Amino acid sequence: MRWWQSAVVYQVYIRSFADGSGDGIGDIAGLRDRLGYLTELGVDALWINPWYPSPQADAGYDVADYCGIEPDYGTLQQAQDFLAEAHAAGLRVILDIVPNHTSAAHRWFAAALAGEPGARDRYHFRAGRGDRGQLPPNDWQSVFGGPAWSRIADGSWYLHLFAPAQPDLNWDHPQVRREFEDVLRFWFDRGVDGFRIDVAHGLVKAPGLPDRDTGLGMLDGAAHPAWDQDGVHEIYRGWRAVAREYDPERVFIAEAWVADSGRLARYLRPDELHTAFQFDFLRAPWRAASLREVADDAMAAAATVGAPPTWVLSNHDVTRTVTRYARSQPDHLVGTDWERKRWTREPADHDLGRRRARAGALLQLALPGTAYIYQGEELGLEEIEQLPDELRRDPTFAQSGFTDVGRDGCRIPLPWSGAAAPYGFSPAPVTTWLPQPPHWGSRAVAAQHDDPASVLQLYRAALRLRRTHWRGAGPVRWLDCPPGVLAFRRGELCCWVNTTGREVALPKNATVLLASHSTATETRLPPDTTVWLAAPEISL
Ligand code: GLC
Repeated sequence: MRWWQSAVVYQVYIRSFADGSGDGIGDIAGLRDRLGYLTELGVDALWINPWYPSPQADAGYDVADYCGIEPDYGTLQQAQDFLAEAHAAGLRVILDIVPNHTSAAHRWFAAALAGEPGARDRYHFRAGRGDRGQLPPNDWQSVFGGPAWSRIADGSWYLHLFAPAQPDLNWDHPQVRREFEDVLRFWFDRGVDGFRIDVAHGLVKAPGLPDRDTGLGMLDGAAHPAWDQDGVHEIYRGWRAVAREYDPERVFIAEAWVADSGRLARYLRPDELHTAFQFDFLRAPWRAASLREVADDAMAAAATVGAPPTWVLSNHDVTRTVTRYARSQPDHLVGTDWERKRWTREPADHDLGRRRARAGALLQLALPGTAYIYQGEELGLEEIEQLPDELRRDPTFAQSGFTDVGRDGCRIPLPWSGAAAPYGFSPAPVTTWLPQPPHWGSRAVAAQHDDPASVLQLYRAALRLRRTHWRGAGPVRWLDCPPGVLAFRRGELCCWVNTTGREVALPKNATVLLASHSTATETRLPPDTTVWLAAPEISL
């Protein structure tokens, strides 16, 4: 089995992981200092959100130079030293590539604005509609809200599926294709093990950029001329060939919000990408039937192309798991926009959410394939929903006309130690780039480190057992179990997940290896709890 087929990957949101320089912003120095924490946690690889020079119009997803390092985060030399240290510690490193759009500060866009001959062809520039060209060229809406087009001084319009500072590239242009293959090689030559591909389903647009007539929801799964066009696959066949120039082969993970797992599997054909996030898992409510349906569907679709399923409960774009699970659960898959708007109106029971998130983590880590952990999940952090409006940084807030608070609440700097902000995030008492809440001392790494009941210790134990017991244990075989419970066997081990509010009986002849909640016994599975059982034979 190759490493990426069963890896646990830890997502480092670098701006909020650890600050080494003391300016309240996370950086490479801070990350290097905490490599020991990550190896002790027991993950196999790191995925680092964009660390390139960027005006930060969208937290680094507006890249000005794909082959450099954002000065707030450090230098290229520090990045290379970090790569060497991570490898020496046994960790693989995946970077984040943003091919759908550049920053407006990228040299190509500057050339386009300056009217250099041919420079606009690398983007989507169009004349406007209306008698004076005063209307956008089509009806597409930006994912962050408002029209997906902005007008420049000479009256022409350019496309941006996200913020106006993120102009979309024209992937029909051969220079664009060549440039990104060179960017891949630039980092692969420096030892990077792979790339997470941002908006992997967006690069190719339908010819003629036809109207869609409704909003540009990234998560609603409906067909759209900007998403999941067949032409995108040719690009990834080229990228796979680049990955194969290296030994060991480099790997890709796609961020592709597509209509269903069948469409997702198309990105994972043997000559395309290696893995793709299975977002339905994080869109599923905390209900056994829904989780089982999503898991079955993901495993079946991945199997059709021989790819491992990839489980994700959280990331820097969605409400943290603890908070998603802290409110009443719908009976259908949810999109993140929907969640934010509805769930902030209902009071959150974070103790309940944390209890379910612990159980969810043991489900995630028992499934075959790869698993991603978003920084802070292992601390049981909740979404910080109450931020002063003037401190919010996510462009979603302004672009939605201040109706969608956006994603800042899951991007708060991590608490490491101490009872007051910055909780060891920065080496000195500074104001962090997003404020930390007053009650996070008890969630800090130092407070949880030696507490056997902590979320951190649960993750450490789970990752240890996963390595020795679940890895390579074979496919899921579902077991009979009461309604609201999910039970499966893989090899010698069974996983029982109780998503209900009442206790259920466990099978006889089983030994509990790990429980998400300490009140689990050899015979009883408490509410909202998962157990891993050593069960050579089971009788109910
Ligand atoms: C992806 C990123 C998100 C970013 C967007 C635009 O969805 O995960 O954070 O805002 O792409 O690049």
